[in-house]
Amino acid sequence: MSNLTSSYDELADVYHATVDPDGAGLDDPTFDELVGDPRGQRVAAVACGQGREARRLADLGAQVVGIDASEPMLAHARALEAQTPRGIEYLHGNAHDLQPLADASFDGVACHMALMDIPELEPTIRSVARILKPGGWFVASIIHPCYKSPAHGDLVDHVEGTYRRIAGRYFEEGPHTSLTRWEILPRVSYHRTLSTYINTLVSAGLQLTRLAEPVGDKPVWKEAAGVLYFSCRAMAAGR
Ligand SMILES: C[S@@+](CC[C@H](N)C(=O)[O-])C[C@H]1O[C@@H](n2cnc3c(N)ncnc32)[C@H](O)[C@@H]1O
Repeated sequence: MSNLTSSYDELADVYHATVDPDGAGLDDPTFDELVGDPRGQRVAAVACGQGREARRLADLGAQVVGIDASEPMLAHARALEAQTPRGIEYLHGNAHDLQPLADASFDGVACHMALMDIPELEPTIRSVARILKPGGWFVASIIHPCYKSPAHGDLVDHVEGTYRRIAGRYFEEGPHTSLTRWEILPRVSYHRTLSTYINTLVSAGLQLTRLAEPVGDKPVWKEAAGVLYFSCRAMAAGR
């Protein structure tokens, strides 16, 4: 029995009740656009939580394995799978090594809104590259590191009446404690600069093919991007 835990263990029930309680799956047009048509592909959902993107990938026709460090999150994922079987396999494991997953065994890997919650970026990305077949795809989304950096807590009312977000302490990488947080998120997350993200992908042999910064639906997210998506291709067998 593994003693691996996650900062989401205590948040699993509230997270589940907020993001996808009925198990319909992820509703994210940018994710769908970047993933494309995964019909017949073997796809890993890394840090899948309660499984919303795993269900979406399965509904699009992929054969999906979800992996996460949080047993309480996986319990929700498995209960939804038992309720409406989609053939998804859920594994308890660390994104840092993806140890249960074999080298060059996946056509695609998705990591939705999780890299900023994973303590070590470099081994995680190296593990993603390891499990991808040559030419395989990697799609990831994160809280935008430029506009939600460690000193992100404050919004200011601009003179023209629009919201502006304060970005500060951008160069302070590593764990940071949020002063203002949404109740479904842990207090500590891991900030990295944009260049760290991109250089880590490139060093692991993942070629960046697209970035996306969709306009959000809240006033402040029409002023500055809230989420950043990466789309990559594995250039060589995992290293
Ligand atoms: C914001 S949740 C996202 C969950 C899901 N991808 C979604 O979009 O709803 C972040 C997830 O990352 C997982 N996580 C954090 N560190 C991890 C690690 N080292 N290995 C695997 N999963 C991890 C957490 O347990 C949590 O389920």
